Amino acid sequence: MKLNGNFQKLEQNYLFVTVAKRVAAYTAAHPDNHIIRMGIGDVTLPLAPVVIEAMHRATEEMSKKETFRGYSPDSNGYPFLREAVAGYYRSLGVELSAEEVFIGDGAKSDVGNIVDLFDVDNTVLVPDPVYPVYVDTNILSGRKLIYADGTEENGFLPLPDDAIHADIVYLCSPNNPTGAVYDREQLQQWVDYALAHHAILLFDAAYESFVTGAGLPRSIFEIPGAEQCAIEFCSLSKTAGFTGMRCGYTVIRKELTVDGVSVSALWERRQGCKFNGVSYVTQRAAEAVFTPAGQQQIRETLAYYQANARTMAQALREMGIWFTGGENSPYLWMKCPGGMGSWAYFDYLLEQAEIVGTPGEGFGKNGAGYFRLTAFGDAAQTKEAMDRLRFLGK
Ligand code: MLT
Repeated sequence: MKLNGNFQKLEQNYLFVTVAKRVAAYTAAHPDNHIIRMGIGDVTLPLAPVVIEAMHRATEEMSKKETFRGYSPDSNGYPFLREAVAGYYRSLGVELSAEEVFIGDGAKSDVGNIVDLFDVDNTVLVPDPVYPVYVDTNILSGRKLIYADGTEENGFLPLPDDAIHADIVYLCSPNNPTGAVYDREQLQQWVDYALAHHAILLFDAAYESFVTGAGLPRSIFEIPGAEQCAIEFCSLSKTAGFTGMRCGYTVIRKELTVDGVSVSALWERRQGCKFNGVSYVTQRAAEAVFTPAGQQQIRETLAYYQANARTMAQALREMGIWFTGGENSPYLWMKCPGGMGSWAYFDYLLEQAEIVGTPGEGFGKNGAGYFRLTAFGDAAQTKEAMDRLRFLGK
């Protein structure tokens, strides 16, 4: 018997677990101190009232024999939610059918599980810095990874190089961790690259609801040709505070085929075999997000986080610290002051200001010397954190 030896190739811990362990050790040693957490991108505001009402109604249904639901009819999601998501895409100007929407328990799982569809010999291109899930899941399944460098010079928005071939390309916009956002023309370059290289573009749109900039795309399917080469992952975690609820969706268009094989048919087959769907109560809660009242209520919550991001951006600007994000994104990606390394800055901020962030190096080699802060915290604490940062100085 042999275990999967690829586990040995991973970092010992998942990035956010390493951060949490370091913070736990600090807290244990300083139990009375007041730490401000701006590390993992977890939301802090409660669910929207319409979501709570929908859950109450669904729970009532589950309590009566006549309306009780067991397994969902299929693992792809209830038609009411698939329709609601398709309706949301329509509001972005993207026409797709409910059958092209697959409900899952969050973008992380679907982004991780999608690799089941692809041959192990495919070459995978990921940006660096990058959300660690794209890297770890491909290391685990033994695929070759190549990197597109995100740097200060390209604003952490690497563009395709036609001389380098990849079969699978991961993109995330607005980006985790850098908060940088591709415009339409840049995404068109990636779609053109994927079409020319017969590659599949795996597009993580988990932060699309933070886009406010005029003309900036929220979905890869706003880009002509993407229906033939892209899969989009999205989640209600950051959009509607579902980090603890678990619900997201993946969109695979009918036009996406490889050697005549429908990719969505393979995903249905994969999910049918390994997944029994998201709970009925959660899917009803998610449906409520897409109602007019739901959209209005989540906008209020998003505005709260966006105000935090502005507070943070203002502080960094005043201090003359270079950063990306904060606009169209809940993340701010800052250069560590004084040329400090990102783990050194992590320790320094924790010890001197009791602020927790995420060291850029945890997202790849190009993250060395950078640091990520999130805007998902409490507004008063965010202001307090920025005051502490100002007090520390550059
Ligand atoms: C992050 O902090 O990068 C995210 O919260 C991670 C995730 O969404 O899985």
